[in-house]
Amino acid sequence: MFIKGNIIHTPTREKFEIFPKGYLEIAGGKVVALHLSLPKGVSQAEIIDYGELLLIPGYVDLHVHAPQYPNMGIGLDMELLPWLNTYTFPEESKFKDLQYAKKVYSRFVHELWKYGTTRSAVFASMHTEATDLLLQLFQESGLGAFAGKSLMDRNCPEYYVDTTENALAGVRILADKYNQPNALVQSIITNRFAPICTDELQLGIAKLAFDYNLPVQSHLNENFGEIAWVKELYPDALSYAHVYHHFGQFGQTPTIMAHCIHNEESELELMVEMSIYAAHCPHSNTNLGSGIMPVREFLNRGIRVGLGSDLSGGHKLAMNEVLVHAIQLSRLMWGASNKKQAALTLAEAFYLATKGGGEFFGKVGSFEAGYEADFLVIDDTGLGMPNTSIEQRLQRYLYVGDDRNIIKRYVRGKEVAEPTIY
Ligand code: GUN
Ligand code: FE
Repeated sequence: MFIKGNIIHTPTREKFEIFPKGYLEIAGGKVVALHLSLPKGVSQAEIIDYGELLLIPGYVDLHVHAPQYPNMGIGLDMELLPWLNTYTFPEESKFKDLQYAKKVYSRFVHELWKYGTTRSAVFASMHTEATDLLLQLFQESGLGAFAGKSLMDRNCPEYYVDTTENALAGVRILADKYNQPNALVQSIITNRFAPICTDELQLGIAKLAFDYNLPVQSHLNENFGEIAWVKELYPDALSYAHVYHHFGQFGQTPTIMAHCIHNEESELELMVEMSIYAAHCPHSNTNLGSGIMPVREFLNRGIRVGLGSDLSGGHKLAMNEVLVHAIQLSRLMWGASNKKQAALTLAEAFYLATKGGGEFFGKVGSFEAGYEADFLVIDDTGLGMPNTSIEQRLQRYLYVGDDRNIIKRYVRGKEVAEPTIY
C-alpha cells in the first residue's frame, strides 16, 4: 500500500524531514520506505491519494488520567495535594460503578480518537473491573494504549483507597488478560505515587513487574508539597527518585515518570542511567502552578522525553495544543533564565509529541523504515492565508488548528473508525 501526500516527520529532533507529494509505503502495518516519486510498476489500485494534504505521525500522549475526563476544564484553582482531595479522588471513586465507567471511558476513548492521539499511557481509577473495561474499549477502538489501574493503599480518603491484596490481585488479572507480546493494548503497572503506596505494595509491584516484564508509570517531583511529603515518609532515601529505585520501579522495566519538575542532580543522573522516560505535561504544570519542567536540561543530558496532556490537571487532550504550550513554557524559561536555557524549536516539540513518547511503545512516532504505520491526514485548507512551505503549513495547523483538521487516523496501517460512545 502507498499513501500519497505532503509527508512531514522528525526522525531526529533537530529538524523536519519532508517528502513533498511523497509516498509512504506500508506493508504488514509497518513503514517500508518513504519515496519522493512512485516506484516503477506500482499500480493505481495500490495508492491512496491524499493530494495536497499533510501526512504526519499520530500523536502520543505519554501521561493521561482517563477517569478524570468528567473534570476536564474544571477545578483548576488549587495546587496538587488539595486538588487531588477536593476534585480528583471524589470523581475517581465513582468508577466502582461499571455503568458510569462505560459511559465516561467510551467518551474518553472517542476523544483520543478525535484529537488524533493514536497511542497513550493511561492511568485508570483504582478499580480493576473498570480498568478492564477501559482496556476492552481500547481494543475495540483500534487505538494503541498502555493502561493500568491506579495503585494506592494508604494515606487516601477512606472512600477511595485500595487494600494491598486487592491492588496486587488486580495487576495480575490485567497482566494475564492483556500483556501478550506485541499487543496494541496492554496493561501497565500504575504506581500512583510513592506517598500513597505502602512498602508492602511497592515490593509486591516490583515483583510483578519483574515476573511479567510489565512496564511501569508513576509521578515524580511535580510539586514541593508532594516532595516534602515523600521526604517525611522516607527520611533516609537519597531522593524521591531513589524511593522508586529502591522498590525496583525506576527503569528495571521500561518506566515513565510524569512531570519531573523539581529534580536533584542525583535524580537526573539516575534517570540517565536507568533510561527513564520523562512525561512533560505543560498544561497541567501551568494549571496546578507546579512549576516549569527544565526540558532543555533533560534533552542536553540525553534523558528520554515525551509529552502528556495529564488530563484533568491538564485541560485539553489535543496534543497539538500541548506541544505548542511546551514551546511557550520553554520560551518563558529562556527569557527568565536570561537566555541560558534554549527554548524548544518547533521540530523538537513535534518530535517530543510523536517519536519522543512513541519510543516507549516500540518503533512508533516516525516514518522511518520498520516503524509502525501510525499516521494522521491533516486538511489545513482555510487556516489563514495560503502558504507555500509545508513546514509553515504544519506550524500554522499546530498553533491554530484543531481536531476538525484531522480527517483520518491510521494505526499500524489500518484506518481507525470513529469509536462507539455508550
Ligand atoms: N500525583 C498523584 N496523582 C496525581 C494525579 O491524578 N494528577 C497529577 N497531576 N499528579 C498526581
Ligand atoms: Fe498525572
